[in-house]
Amino acid sequence: MASAPRTTSRTADDDWWRSAVVYQVYVRSFADANSDGVGDLQGIRQRLPYLRDLGVDALWLTPFYTSPQVDAGYDVADYRNVDPLFGDLTDFDEMITDAHALGLRIIVDMVPNHTSSAHPWFAAALAAGPGSPERERYLFAEGKGEQGELPPNDWESIFGGPAWTRVVDGQWYLHLFDPAQPDLNWRHPEVRAEFEDVLRFWLDRGVDGFRIDVAHGMIKAEGLPDVGFNSMTTGQRQSELLGKGRLPYFDQDEVHDIYRAWRPILDSYPGGRMAVAEAWAETPQRLARYIGPDELHQAFSFDFLDATWSADSFRKVIDTALAESTIVGAPTTWVLSNHDRQRHVTRYGDGEVGLRRARAAALLMFALPGCVYVYQGEELGLPEVLDLPDELRQDPAFRRTGESRDGCRVPIPWGGELPPYGFGPDGSELSWLPAPATWRSLSVAAQTAAPGSTLELYRTALRIRHEHPALAGLDAITWLETEPGVLAFRRTTGDAEVTCVVNISGADVTVRGYGRPLVASADLTERGDGHVLPVDAAAWFERR
Ligand code: GLC
Repeated sequence: MASAPRTTSRTADDDWWRSAVVYQVYVRSFADANSDGVGDLQGIRQRLPYLRDLGVDALWLTPFYTSPQVDAGYDVADYRNVDPLFGDLTDFDEMITDAHALGLRIIVDMVPNHTSSAHPWFAAALAAGPGSPERERYLFAEGKGEQGELPPNDWESIFGGPAWTRVVDGQWYLHLFDPAQPDLNWRHPEVRAEFEDVLRFWLDRGVDGFRIDVAHGMIKAEGLPDVGFNSMTTGQRQSELLGKGRLPYFDQDEVHDIYRAWRPILDSYPGGRMAVAEAWAETPQRLARYIGPDELHQAFSFDFLDATWSADSFRKVIDTALAESTIVGAPTTWVLSNHDRQRHVTRYGDGEVGLRRARAAALLMFALPGCVYVYQGEELGLPEVLDLPDELRQDPAFRRTGESRDGCRVPIPWGGELPPYGFGPDGSELSWLPAPATWRSLSVAAQTAAPGSTLELYRTALRIRHEHPALAGLDAITWLETEPGVLAFRRTTGDAEVTCVVNISGADVTVRGYGRPLVASADLTERGDGHVLPVDAAAWFERR
């Protein structure tokens, strides 16, 4: 592995992330090369040709670092190594070399808000005791009450329950997530230096970018002030304020200093290394502050994901997102699903209706200018698995809140007649979560070359998005007059013109005047000089 040179000049290709299609690989559920029932880096490596053929530009890999896996790897014990569950550093190097050879870029997850409680720093902090320099790297505090028996403040874990856990010597430590994920003290210079070095470690190994986990969380308000309520006092969970209100442990102004220090590190490498924030802020304006030439390249916009199945709702979030992107000078990110949220087939109504809508939503998303994130399995039209037995659920939030994210994390069906549908090598029967029997017909093999399959719809749409001059660029969209419940917008570059129409009106509509159909999420039928676009369907038309 050669170290990257540190001087670079910018090229047009450095802006690849502005209109890229990024495929989120949830590593433990993607492909299992060693038959242990858990996806791994060699599994990804074997499936790279599939991803190239799908037509994506980059992969975002969820954490594969050394970890006790309490929160599926978002509890990192060694930021510079691969968990044996997923392989080793050689596997990583081989995977990234092959990916680059196929023209696929690699984005890795960075988890800076907290470490695992198995991280050597935390072990040292526990051993060294109150007042020690080792404790300074985390957020230890004395409790309230006569004997310090109450938590230092009223903060609540995102996974439910108090955000504080008491250790044997009586002090408490902060964990905004699971107790096995102690929050770091980002006002400590050693913490900052460590992560700058970790970034360089992976940049030197050739990664093209980072997805920054809980990017809004690293700085906590001075004095750790109370929020003023929590589930215990008023029944309202503090996490309900995510993206809506101020919390003393999120989106503090000082957090931006961290990114201003990171950006020159990214910029010192050639090839357009980027970072995307998973950040929640009170307003779109505050979210936009994470983005810019001296901070991060992108922040996920979850408003598109949160839009309900209505024309008004989509139009509003699209307009807002595009207006914001003009302000910050960076393209929007479009996301329909990820490993934390219910899959959109199910959100849109599940079953056949949900799938129809999900396919239409994909055409809507791929027609928009900006960077698109596809969550593994959405190209197969996978629904949320709602009936996983409780004893198999592994999300740490499940034990604390009864809510679990396992249903969107079920391993990918690749082919074959029996579960786990080719997740592992031939004959391998293990998978860390069971795939439902209905997934046999949803597998990659079952959908490949099958006319009308969701996989072929994704392949076709992504090919057109890349190749068509009207869609490949970042030119603005123009909304067209339509009947209520129908969304139609045009993208134009030079003489090339594509119109995307989405029918959310509840009845079939006839569309005309947009030109020749390019792709549709459901069968179009000709009627007079136009086409009937069925209910809950979308289509692209072109004129050149
Ligand atoms: C992010 C991740 C989520 C994880 C949490 C704690 O929200 O997407 O999966 O549980 O951070 O690291």
